[in-house]
Amino acid sequence: MFRLIPPAGAPISVSEISKILRKRFSSDRSGEIFAEKIKEYTKTKHCILLNSGRTALLAILKALNKMSDFKKNEVVMPAYTCFSVAAAVARSGLKIRLIDSDPDTLDYDYERLNRVDFTAVLAIIGCNLFGILIDWNKLMSIAREKKVYLIDDAAQSMGSSFQRRPSGSLGDAGFFSLGRGKNLSVISGGILLTDNDDVASHLNEYMKEINESNYFIEIKATLNIIFYSLFLKPRLYWIPDKMPFLKLGQTVFDENFKAGHLSTLQRCAATVMFSRLDKVNAARVENARALSSGLLNDDRYRIPGHDPNKYPIYLRLPVLARNKLERDLAVAALKRKGISASAMYPSTIRQIEGIEKYLAGLNDRFDGANAVVDRLFALPTHPYVKPGDIDRIINCLKEI
Ligand SMILES: Cc1ncc(COP(=O)(O)O)c(C=O)c1O
Repeated sequence: MFRLIPPAGAPISVSEISKILRKRFSSDRSGEIFAEKIKEYTKTKHCILLNSGRTALLAILKALNKMSDFKKNEVVMPAYTCFSVAAAVARSGLKIRLIDSDPDTLDYDYERLNRVDFTAVLAIIGCNLFGILIDWNKLMSIAREKKVYLIDDAAQSMGSSFQRRPSGSLGDAGFFSLGRGKNLSVISGGILLTDNDDVASHLNEYMKEINESNYFIEIKATLNIIFYSLFLKPRLYWIPDKMPFLKLGQTVFDENFKAGHLSTLQRCAATVMFSRLDKVNAARVENARALSSGLLNDDRYRIPGHDPNKYPIYLRLPVLARNKLERDLAVAALKRKGISASAMYPSTIRQIEGIEKYLAGLNDRFDGANAVVDRLFALPTHPYVKPGDIDRIINCLKEI
């Protein structure tokens, strides 16, 4: 097979690469300029650039921990989400309090969340998976009532907004990921946002403790960006897809991740890529709309959080099959047609090997999150997906 649509990503052109390199070697202050642009875009006061979203989350947790009573040592997070969220909480020394996820919305199961004893809870993390914004009104009122901090995990939702408030700015602090396959990608990176001056001053202290970037990181990032821009093309994506050592799309739990600043080259790359974020996001919305309208009349498939009047910027379009077998058949059939769909996270956070030592509460049930693990697959929505691909995806899923 010589044409394979990647599961996620955003094109990077040769002219953009040359612009990034020129910026890197000119004397402009890309880092500060980019941070200023992000502050304006998200209407937030402080913006800090880091080497990953998980470092941003770790930095936020460390700051909140310093600002609080030491008895507040639990962080509430969903049982179905990216493993890096759990890795950052584990690394912070705080305990993970898992709450079941609702398969219909991919948000918290609020009945379960409302039953939590918040005495030891420091913060709640709201994860906007696939670009679907969760119910921030509910989460804000719980956080206010229980007097806990709120963290906006906007790793997958840059450019979205909730009731006109930009994603990333909805908590006491929030963050974006600039990792592979994200709305704005420079292969790896994170953006931390907050309006809270106390959090910001603790963060500035933390920035002094972690590693600065270096030339080795920049060279690696440059090569990765060039490799990514070339092999993300559907005509070539089958090549990296056949290289298991690249670990494309694999989800691992690693609490010993490297925390550091975002390299200068990646700051330049982020500045260049940011200029067309809204255009790329508009293509995602259109592709998701076309895919959903083709699939929603088939009662074997459901789209979590679907609202016909409001299309979020789906980073990928999540679809729930009726069961694991049908999901696996769908992913395999799509692959045969040249489309990489992803079954996403391989387990709930509770099932990660060795996670027990980081958990607060070992006996909770996660039926909703388990159902999502078994039944969910995600369709590509990026700009390399063309109308012919959309028809092929819909026909393939209907024919199964
Ligand atoms: C929901 C969510 N939160 C946090 C992260 C962590 O971001 P990063 O990979 O940049 O560390 C990710 C990354 O995939 C994510 O999807």
